[in-house]
Amino acid sequence: MKIFIDSGNTDEIREACALGLVDGVTTNPSLVAKSGKPFRQLLDEILAIVDGPISAEVISTHAEGILKEGRELAGIHHNIVVKVPLIPEGLKAVRIFSQEGIKTNVTLCFSAPQALLSAKAGATYISPFVGRLDDISAPGMNLIEDIRTIYDNYAIETQILTASARSPMHFMEAAKIGSDVITAPFSVLMQLLSHPLTDIGLKKFLDDWEKTKK
Ligand code: E4P
Repeated sequence: MKIFIDSGNTDEIREACALGLVDGVTTNPSLVAKSGKPFRQLLDEILAIVDGPISAEVISTHAEGILKEGRELAGIHHNIVVKVPLIPEGLKAVRIFSQEGIKTNVTLCFSAPQALLSAKAGATYISPFVGRLDDISAPGMNLIEDIRTIYDNYAIETQILTASARSPMHFMEAAKIGSDVITAPFSVLMQLLSHPLTDIGLKKFLDDWEKTKK
């Protein structure tokens, strides 16, 4: 399973890269706003840190505007993946991007039929939001299972990118189901790394080592 970091914070992205955890990056308008940086500047900074797919989201809601924004974004660098909202106008644009060889990440997916139709339009990635489904008491991971089954039934190549992951459990479940990619915030990546027995074990080793000096 590939790991993307869901962040607009370049310090976090750099640190996660140093740990060898990052295959790519996802951003969204909320994360860009949180960074406090102009979108283009932020993208350039991320491109300089990560050599992998970097999702950059359009803000237009009509196909014409999505196509214009998406072509501009894709023209910045071959690693840019155009993130498109899962609305009818979005899928119209995705179909054309697919014909033009522009990679897309169809975002805000909350149902299996939406995922199937996005694949049919030619999406490179589909982003089902598991955490936001959990928020409304609808088990998000069930959606990943359903999409995996459907995509496998028809040998669909669209990659499942588990998004809105909020916990190590989301990560584990996504890996067990066979999600192609997961995107997670830096805090979740750090949670995945830590284990109290590792810390206790290391402290004991170092304390014992000190005793050899006496
Ligand atoms: C994915 O591409 C989104 O940027 C992100 O995962 C949304 O996560 P949230 O629901 O925690 O905001």
